[in-house]
Amino acid sequence: MKKLFQTLLLLLFAGLSVAYGKGFSLDVKEKSAVITLDRAKTQTLWLPIDNSAKEVKMTVNGSPLFTEPVTVRLAEKKVDCWMPLYLDKNTTRIELKGCKPEYIAWKELKMGKNPNPKIEDFRQHIHFSPEMGWTNDPNGMVWHEGEWHLFFQYNPLGTRWGNMSWGHAVSRDLTKWKQLPTVMFPDSLGAIYSGSAVIDKNNTAGFGKDAMIAIYTSSYRNNKIKRQQQSIAYSTDNGRTFTKYEGNPVLPSTRRDFRDPKVFWHTPTERWIMPLACGQGMEFYSSKNLKEWKFESRFGDKYGCHFGVWECPDLVELPYKDGTKWVLFCSITKDAQHGSSVQYFVGDFDGHTFTCDTPEEHTDWINYGRDNYATVTWSNVPDGRCMALAWQNNWKCCSHADFPTVGYRGYMSLAYELQLIEHEGKAKLVATPAREYNNYFSTIALNRKTTVEGQLELCQLKHQDRAYRLRFDFKESQASLFGVRLSNKHGEYVEFCFDRAKRELRVDRRKSGMVDFNDKFPSVSVAPMSTAEMQSLTIILDRASVECFSDIAAVSNLVFPTESYNHVELYTSGGPVEVNAEVSHGK
Ligand code: FRU
Repeated sequence: MKKLFQTLLLLLFAGLSVAYGKGFSLDVKEKSAVITLDRAKTQTLWLPIDNSAKEVKMTVNGSPLFTEPVTVRLAEKKVDCWMPLYLDKNTTRIELKGCKPEYIAWKELKMGKNPNPKIEDFRQHIHFSPEMGWTNDPNGMVWHEGEWHLFFQYNPLGTRWGNMSWGHAVSRDLTKWKQLPTVMFPDSLGAIYSGSAVIDKNNTAGFGKDAMIAIYTSSYRNNKIKRQQQSIAYSTDNGRTFTKYEGNPVLPSTRRDFRDPKVFWHTPTERWIMPLACGQGMEFYSSKNLKEWKFESRFGDKYGCHFGVWECPDLVELPYKDGTKWVLFCSITKDAQHGSSVQYFVGDFDGHTFTCDTPEEHTDWINYGRDNYATVTWSNVPDGRCMALAWQNNWKCCSHADFPTVGYRGYMSLAYELQLIEHEGKAKLVATPAREYNNYFSTIALNRKTTVEGQLELCQLKHQDRAYRLRFDFKESQASLFGVRLSNKHGEYVEFCFDRAKRELRVDRRKSGMVDFNDKFPSVSVAPMSTAEMQSLTIILDRASVECFSDIAAVSNLVFPTESYNHVELYTSGGPVEVNAEVSHGK
């Protein structure tokens, strides 16, 4: 009976392939299909995607971009969105393996105009997100000729992880981002995993003075082999296009967790240094020319948190007291703190070895929120500031088929300035929003000194099409609690609260809106307070993002209110709080 049904379906589709007349024909078999394009020309085929479907293998013959087979979650039962497959005039045939005749995809394939309805419910205004597709880590961040470059882990063919490529976006002010064509797609060495980019001022690699050079992980996996190696590619057109080096990989290996090179120039020893994540440790390699690398040392096997594989290192030198200190960043993939989190170590680096100042069991975090991962810094920042960016998501929640955004998934954090301050006798890393945002938040909607006891309606946030900044400064107070609640008319809210007795800053998103898509999402983030006094608090609200900053802690979270929060309320308990509140928004 099943066979008969399938045969009938096949006959039906054979008929459809003739009837289509939309620029292609289809040949659907029991476990495979072929799409043949009528005319060879540059065009877009829109692939219907079902986030809960299993992955189908797709070979795009003649494509200069997809030179290796890729995977797509071709619509089985429903269409969540259509992803564009840009076809070159050399492509006439697309082969699919692992699909079935009963897929809804066969009647939902479309050529030409974008069939996606415009669903932008949770699109942020000043945080970057790709127009379509999936993103995770920020990659290759480098400032060059007036532009902040952001490359990013990108799946151009789906809204879940896969087909890792390097997407590209640029900004001149860190608030308006422009997405440019994807610069690197998977090749015979593997997918293009995370890495960094530098400007080769002295032409050490021989690709030209001031060439932009990307150093990334080539990640290869098939049924038998899982291997990660380091490769390079160069650009002489300000990052618009990259040429992969023919001598890749520049750091060959057979190891499976050996990734995320974050290269910088070490002036005292006049060499490039590459911190690399290897299993649950960080290794350091050096090179004169970015092409030949030498092992220097390994750090971390006994240090800090080891609840998962270590990823995305960065090593930066920051002013501290009368000198400097080196800070090593380390992302821990899934089970640290509360899922994906970034720990850091403060110490010294002599060009060969990192020595840590804190005891082995000490762990500290860059951000205490749920959505702040893979933090790395920009290279070549003109005024020498240490500027960082993180992926605003968590491996615990992001992969779910029912994630609330449609057609795209993943945001970057705000850009941060990083500094070391002395706290309780130790160097502590503090992140604040980059000063570039002051320009954006130049319209002051409210500036009010007031005393709060119990509850106070502070103001309405009238503009739904821009980001808001809320700042609170306090006079000394005996109150035990001070809170800020952002809400909408559906009763959805997020709360930020200083609890003096517990010396905690808490961010509660349990009732923030859409929270049920993953059981790990409804949560309360907890950060330490520097003293039992309330310090100033800054909150940046950008549609689906709430990032807050105290004097020692940053807490960044995603929220999915079904309608933007537009109401601000303050509350206290245990006494009055005198507060100066300033609310400003973008132009
Ligand atoms: C971190 C990470 C990196 C890897 C990339 C793959 O989120 O797992 O270690 O290079 O994502 O997309």
